[in-house]
Amino acid sequence: MEPKQDVLTSTSTWSQLEHLAEKEKSTHVADLFATNKERFEQFSLNDCQILADFSKQRMTPAARDLLVKLAEERQLSRWQDALFAGDLVNCTEQRSAKHWLLRDPGAEAPEVQSQLDIMEGMVGRILHGHWRGVLGDAITDVVNVGVGGSELGPLMAAFALQSAQPHEGQTRPRLHFASSMDGSQISQALQELNPRTTLILVSSKSFTTVDTLHNANTARGWLARGLGLAYTDEAMMRCHFIGISAEADRMTEWGIVPVNQLLFWDWVGGRYSLWSAIGLPIALTVGMVGFRELLAGAHDMDSHFRVRPWTENIPVMLALVDVWNINFLDIRTRAVLPYDGRLKHLPAYLEQLEMESNGKSVSRAGEPVDYHTCPVIWGEVGPNAQHAFFQLLHQGTQPVASEFLMTARRYTEAVHSSAAQELEAQHALANANCLAQSRLLALGDRALEPDLSLPAYKRYHGNQPSTTLVLDELSPRTLGALLAMYEHKVFVQAVIWGINPFDQWGVELGKVIAKDMLELIADPSRAEGLDSSSRALSRHIAKHRQ
Ligand code: F6P
Repeated sequence: MEPKQDVLTSTSTWSQLEHLAEKEKSTHVADLFATNKERFEQFSLNDCQILADFSKQRMTPAARDLLVKLAEERQLSRWQDALFAGDLVNCTEQRSAKHWLLRDPGAEAPEVQSQLDIMEGMVGRILHGHWRGVLGDAITDVVNVGVGGSELGPLMAAFALQSAQPHEGQTRPRLHFASSMDGSQISQALQELNPRTTLILVSSKSFTTVDTLHNANTARGWLARGLGLAYTDEAMMRCHFIGISAEADRMTEWGIVPVNQLLFWDWVGGRYSLWSAIGLPIALTVGMVGFRELLAGAHDMDSHFRVRPWTENIPVMLALVDVWNINFLDIRTRAVLPYDGRLKHLPAYLEQLEMESNGKSVSRAGEPVDYHTCPVIWGEVGPNAQHAFFQLLHQGTQPVASEFLMTARRYTEAVHSSAAQELEAQHALANANCLAQSRLLALGDRALEPDLSLPAYKRYHGNQPSTTLVLDELSPRTLGALLAMYEHKVFVQAVIWGINPFDQWGVELGKVIAKDMLELIADPSRAEGLDSSSRALSRHIAKHRQ
């Protein structure tokens, strides 16, 4: 446990923020724009090829000043130094959180370099067709078997960067991801794949996650049967399995041959691990040059975060905006809305990054907190969401903060020559819709000349706050910066809330109970003593299984 800090909600700055929020409650974003011609200049930042526009948030300069004061009182500087000094900022597990070290080109971290070198060798062999299956075929398909941080980051980034090509002479394998413990994805992948040309990446920091081990086991049995080899065949393991983990012994015990083991360390949290060898699927998508660009982009953002004053600091401002919305305006959910379909998997990635990090209700000192912490994060590709849940954003009863993402440049003649013009028109259309929606959410029907005679069901009240993030373009470098931005934002919020963002005790007990339930499903007579729901459900399943 850590020494107690002042109780956040009893500080004078917190009370001042509450008073200010009360006073400004009825102020409409439309009025904030109407009364301040400089609003965009005052509430936007541009660095690392990211423009962050906070001007459509319901925040005044007075609120921002107080929030900055709050961050200072919560000793943000000291915590930032502690993070980058490698101190044990993960207090419940006594670990540092040095994901930033994985992307620091100047760091003296030979263990990081050596794993990158091994990864580079593997990537080169796969992309050049030199990595062969046990019967001599080149690898055409790679299946990433992993879950949570061992899937969401690589999946999101590999999908986002598909249009960036690896180098000439390199052929990208088809990538597949299998995470769900019920076998849905692995069964489908295996139906389509040829065991002779398939390589399995078993990605698991702990190498104990049952979801992953069961999927890996299914893939291994399928390979052995398909190749006519024993389950333990050493050559098959050498040619068809790579392991990525912090636990070399467990990989070896499972059967991953030592030369196919990529390591990372306990100081890299699972949801912060895409910068490590867990990012292998990303490197297989953009090549090692592209992967290093991703790291460089993240390092750009690390530097930005470390040197910029708080009001000019993108992750800090994002965090303060969230704190304002959650704790003072009582807006406790945020929709992530990418208007570039390549960022389709970003909401799911952020769900883990933010909610697993900051979904906490106990302070670092072990006390229950008396304020809200992480909001509920959800989202969808923006243009598609317009045809699904935007109704609620515009006319529902829930206050929702939105986060719009768009790219300024996209299709190029060089890559999309066959349809570049039409595609560029589609890009412009998506961006226009992004601007339209954030404007309408902010201003309501005041965005146009409002017709006051319309019935209530046709009116738009607006005042739903949003942030817009514009990337110059979506490249490994800008994506790296964007993701590091989110990581630091989560950290800053945790500092303000006084919680530990680097553990995840809330996911453990379910795993323990699931073991009991597995026994119950096998033998429902063991259900005595359980709650009536669990008892009845297990019996129902048993009855209908036959
Ligand atoms: O159960 C949650 C969790 O531990 C996440 O934090 C993690 O990203 C995921 O499971 C997968 O863990 P591992 O990489 O150890 O298999």
